[in-house]
Amino acid sequence: MLFSASAILAAAAFVGEVAAHGYVPFIRINGTTIPGWDVTKDGYTNPQPLRVVRATKADSGFVSSVNSGEITCSIGNSKLPPGPITATVAAGGTVTAVWNTWPVGHYGPIIDYIAKCPASGCSSWKADTGKPWIKIGQKTYNGEWPSDTLAKNGFTHDIKIPRNLASGDYLIRHEQIALHGASSAGGAQFYPVCIQITIVGGGSLVPQGQLGFPGAYTTNDPGILFNPYRGDAANRAYVPPGGPVYSGLQF
Ligand SMILES: *[C@@H]1O[C@H](CO)[C@@H](O)[C@H](O)[C@H]1NC(C)=O
Repeated sequence: MLFSASAILAAAAFVGEVAAHGYVPFIRINGTTIPGWDVTKDGYTNPQPLRVVRATKADSGFVSSVNSGEITCSIGNSKLPPGPITATVAAGGTVTAVWNTWPVGHYGPIIDYIAKCPASGCSSWKADTGKPWIKIGQKTYNGEWPSDTLAKNGFTHDIKIPRNLASGDYLIRHEQIALHGASSAGGAQFYPVCIQITIVGGGSLVPQGQLGFPGAYTTNDPGILFNPYRGDAANRAYVPPGGPVYSGLQF
């Protein structure tokens, strides 16, 4: 059987693209599984199901431009509001993001941000202007890349909700950054996932937003333009983008 070179290349590119995909079809809170956004079904269901995880388009796996409006909450966020629902979590509790898959070798950090939704609620708010975000957690290289740890750990990541954050509605921006192609500018792959939550039993901390998406990242940030193939010592010096975790958070 004969294949044209272009058909083989197209097939290889398709396989590569599918392998690059990762999204969050479920979250878990208190041991309860809650639907996230299933890119294979939810965008094609009529009426569209209400989801606490912002929509991601099925045909695109990642965001590559730090200046894109899609860096906020992934591709399709602005077009496919998930609905006026939130998942309730106690301050001091955990929201577990359950990814459908993640390839070992798509090295990178895992970073969690949060933004207080306006009084009108989370579902109609894009969170893509101004600086509403703060960083609440990050995992970086510690002999293994957090992305590999996630891939070996049932594709799950625990997002810790600070116990002193004020109660109310928030948007979580949970993100993996894949650095396997990041040694050239524009080669990093961003996989942001936004989750609409209501925090109950919170404290008195009303965070002052510090970061904007887009805005917080630059193409040449040393945490974004980074070669992960120079060995353990170089990887241990890696600093994720977006600055330090917001000070004053209690866990
Ligand atoms: C988790 O537990 C907290 C505290 O008991 C409760 O307020 C919240 O509704 C629970 N969330 C879910 C999704 O079960």
